[in-house]
Amino acid sequence: MSPRSALRIALAASCAFFAALTSAVSDDVPASYKYGDLIPVTCLNRTIDTGEHITDPTGNLQYIPFPSCLETQAPLSLPYLHSTPQRCTITLTDPLFHLLEFYIHNDAPLTCRIASSPPAGSSTTYTPLTLALAGTLQLSHLHVAQSLNLAVHIAPRSSSAPAPGAITAAAGYSIAPTANNTRVVIGDELPLTFHVRWYTSPTLPVGGAGTRSTGGWATLAYCVFSAAASAAVCVVYFRGVELPRRLRWHGRERMGGGGGLPKYNGYGYGVAGAANGASGNGYGGYGFGVTGKRD
Ligand SMILES: *[C@@H]1O[C@H](CO)[C@@H](O)[C@H](O)[C@H]1NC(C)=O
Ligand SMILES: *[C@@H]1O[C@H](CO)[C@@H](O)[C@H](O)[C@H]1NC(C)=O
Repeated sequence: MSPRSALRIALAASCAFFAALTSAVSDDVPASYKYGDLIPVTCLNRTIDTGEHITDPTGNLQYIPFPSCLETQAPLSLPYLHSTPQRCTITLTDPLFHLLEFYIHNDAPLTCRIASSPPAGSSTTYTPLTLALAGTLQLSHLHVAQSLNLAVHIAPRSSSAPAPGAITAAAGYSIAPTANNTRVVIGDELPLTFHVRWYTSPTLPVGGAGTRSTGGWATLAYCVFSAAASAAVCVVYFRGVELPRRLRWHGRERMGGGGGLPKYNGYGYGVAGAANGASGNGYGGYGFGVTGKRD
């Protein structure tokens, strides 16, 4: 065998080895979504009489696709890592309207879920996605806050488990429900807008556009407020506890230490005299029964 063909064989062998290695790795690690992949949102099926969730014959909770959006003629899905507002106008059929009443009235949550990674056979793991839909329930109609924030957390690049890019948490909530809502009756179209944001951190980031930072004015305001609050606590303590105690000691010294405990009714000397009544036990006074003038 020539050295040249030996080299060729060695190269081919190492290529095959690495190919086998990468396929083994990709078998173990669930592939993450790619930018723009559509992630379907499915939600618990519920009865329209009670809002109770429905289980399939094997006892598992039944998740069904989110209602169809008029914009796409398909159930709501989230394009992976897209942060453009996601519009989804749903037609409120009679069952859907009654379910919406349960959600708005907080009788049942709008419990949805999304696959954490692209579905791979039977071993799909899901991330819960509860939509806190807000509004007001009236006798004849509903007001629904149509604008929602939707936060999705994904595992960072350095993550080993779950795989990088896998969805780890998600939740949505209505924005300004009292100020920005749509009045709907059965048969109306409800134009929902989802403002979807993707975070590689497990917690929401501090800072960034639109974030109320804790620097500058906020910190100053906090300092001033807490200084005022602690000053108020000091004043209350001094007037309510410390001052009466000092007065009590003062009074006891004047009486020569004996005579038991003074009656504690508040502050001030209840000195018998014109101002506080003859008994010296008047309201808010210290009743020592000492007749004499104030010092
Ligand atoms: C939801 O449950 C109801 C009642 O069991 C059933 O009629 C309906 O077909 C279910 N919806 C879907 C999309 O499977
Ligand atoms: C009200 O909702 C609409 C539709 O989602 C949105 O475009 C608008 O910015 C919202 N207005 C306020 C004040 O939040």
